[in-house]
Amino acid sequence: MKYNIASLPGDGIGPEIVEQAVKVLKATGKKFRHEFIFTEGLIGAIAIDKTGKPLPKETLELCMSSDAVIFGAIGDPKYDNNPKAKVRPEQGLLEMRQKLGLYANIRPVNTFDSLIDKSPLKTELIKGVDFVVIRELTGGIYFGEKGRTAENNGAFDVCSYTKEEIERISKLAFKYAKQRNKRLTIVDKANVLETSRLWRETTQEMEKEETEVKVDYMFVDNAAMQLIQYPKHFDVILTENMFGDILSDEASVITGSLGMLPSASVGIYTSVFEPIHGSYPQAAGKNIANPVATILSAAMLLDSLDLNKEAEAIRNAVNKSLDENFTTIDINKENPRKTSEVGDYIAENL
Ligand code: IPM
Ligand code: MG
Repeated sequence: MKYNIASLPGDGIGPEIVEQAVKVLKATGKKFRHEFIFTEGLIGAIAIDKTGKPLPKETLELCMSSDAVIFGAIGDPKYDNNPKAKVRPEQGLLEMRQKLGLYANIRPVNTFDSLIDKSPLKTELIKGVDFVVIRELTGGIYFGEKGRTAENNGAFDVCSYTKEEIERISKLAFKYAKQRNKRLTIVDKANVLETSRLWRETTQEMEKEETEVKVDYMFVDNAAMQLIQYPKHFDVILTENMFGDILSDEASVITGSLGMLPSASVGIYTSVFEPIHGSYPQAAGKNIANPVATILSAAMLLDSLDLNKEAEAIRNAVNKSLDENFTTIDINKENPRKTSEVGDYIAENL
């Protein structure tokens, strides 16, 4: 089969890691006789530099007309350190999520036996951890009205959700739970936030129909603690946009490196596959960043095209590189391999 894939490297380490994922996808195509056609698009700070816009029209059109998108990272210190900048790289990512209707971000978290001692957490706590964070991605405080108020030198960001938005993501979370261990933890702050109370009200109604799934509710502050203290307790975690952003970075500590966690953003139009980490500007161009999160995102991309054995082949090749400690410096201080070497190794081992 023939597939059109948009590749959006973005900023910082984005280009280096996406190059490895593309390499691995090409090798997969060769082995399983598929044709993956890649077309590159601009997004983020690099797009601002070249076109003035963080998400040029051409990039959005490219995404819309592709079968899937592989995405690197965006962000640049020159914007991070300038809170007054009107145009920001992150706007490109948020606009892409919104325009593609990517309301769900799926972030699987599982430990790798060969990396178990790299985690700062105790082995007995994390061995066998296997859960998935389902983060709502196109609502909440990220997309609410924001601004400054002149009279009192203030600023505001509005967090809002509609019942419909909550229902569509919850439906997906119930579906995941049913395919897994049938436990769903809904994380909110219903003791304080009205949006959380609407969220609970909505999911409590849905629970009546979803009798197979055992649902529990947890306040986000408690969840932040439980995630580290009893990570094996979790199966599927469902939460709103910003809580999901924060908790999934926290969850990456369990695996030993932020460079390991892939994600899929799915919704109405073309799905986007992206590592959960950011653009890591300090490492940009040094060929040291861990490409595994992006390569595992490519495996999720293949799953979305129903190419499951192809996806499994990538995961097996990644596992082999981890078992043999053929890894980058974030997890291998003694004998670190370069980003491109890890990409080559995984592609060869397919
Ligand atoms: C992520 C990132 C983004 C987010 C940033 C870069 C806007 O942290 O994908 O988790 O907050 O969603
Ligand atoms: Mg984040």
